Amino acid sequence: MDYPVDISLKPEVTGFFDPATNTISYVVKDPESDACAIVDSVMDIDYAAGRITYEHADELIKFVQENGLKLEWLIETHVHADHLSAAPYIQQKLGGKIGIGENIKIVQDVFGKIFNEGTEFQRDGSQFDALFQDGDTYNIGSMKAFAMHTPGHTPACMTHVVGDAAFVGDTLFMPDGGSARADFPGGDAGVLYDSIMKVLALPDETRLFMCHDYGPNGRDIQWETTVAEEKAHNIHVGGGKTKEEFVKFRTERDATLDMPKLIIPSLQVNMRAGEVPKDKDGRPMLKVPVNGL
Ligand SMILES: [Fe+2]
Repeated sequence: MDYPVDISLKPEVTGFFDPATNTISYVVKDPESDACAIVDSVMDIDYAAGRITYEHADELIKFVQENGLKLEWLIETHVHADHLSAAPYIQQKLGGKIGIGENIKIVQDVFGKIFNEGTEFQRDGSQFDALFQDGDTYNIGSMKAFAMHTPGHTPACMTHVVGDAAFVGDTLFMPDGGSARADFPGGDAGVLYDSIMKVLALPDETRLFMCHDYGPNGRDIQWETTVAEEKAHNIHVGGGKTKEEFVKFRTERDATLDMPKLIIPSLQVNMRAGEVPKDKDGRPMLKVPVNGL
């Protein structure tokens, strides 16, 4: 696939860190207009209490409004398993289209079964405004963005590239964080390695923006690096590590990891583009499949 890379375009990127889930949401602004996109927003949940709030999303909304920006896109890099998307809440306030990778259909099929969803739960991605295929382009004001299919962590993972900025989702972490797990249903360590190589084939100076950072070894939270830095220093794939080494390491490591704390509410909400499911009486309600994951 020949991607329409344009390193001369330099969008203005502002990151918003959510300490509850270690997620970074981004506002990506066109330098030539007021147009912007939001990548990977977060809705707050107190799962023990079953309470949903919007502090983090309101911060994004305030930033967009105070800077007089026009929101054109709400991008989900993938179906997150560790936080809930606030895309519909933000869309209601600011407009914009919600987009995700077209393999959301596979994710909906897998988790539709696990959560025993009825036929009213559509598995065709129709909850989203746009489904991206590998290489699809779209505009944010005068900027041309493209989606690059980077599966492995999940089948629907896309890296979104806008000029010299790439939003890698959970394909990569900061060089000292390595990579994300590949053991969720539909995940695959070898496929993840190939996807990481696709990202690292972008020009060396490409700015890479992480979806998560956990501040390994006590360092401060960071979310921006470059292709050159990852190639040289990423602890899982940098410095010429082979695919075989990566797959062995990733598989062994994943076997030791607990499920993310919010996986059960996250999947139910995120496979519906951020809408909380409703029970037969129309009340927002989440399920817990016992021994289902
Ligand atoms: Fe993820």
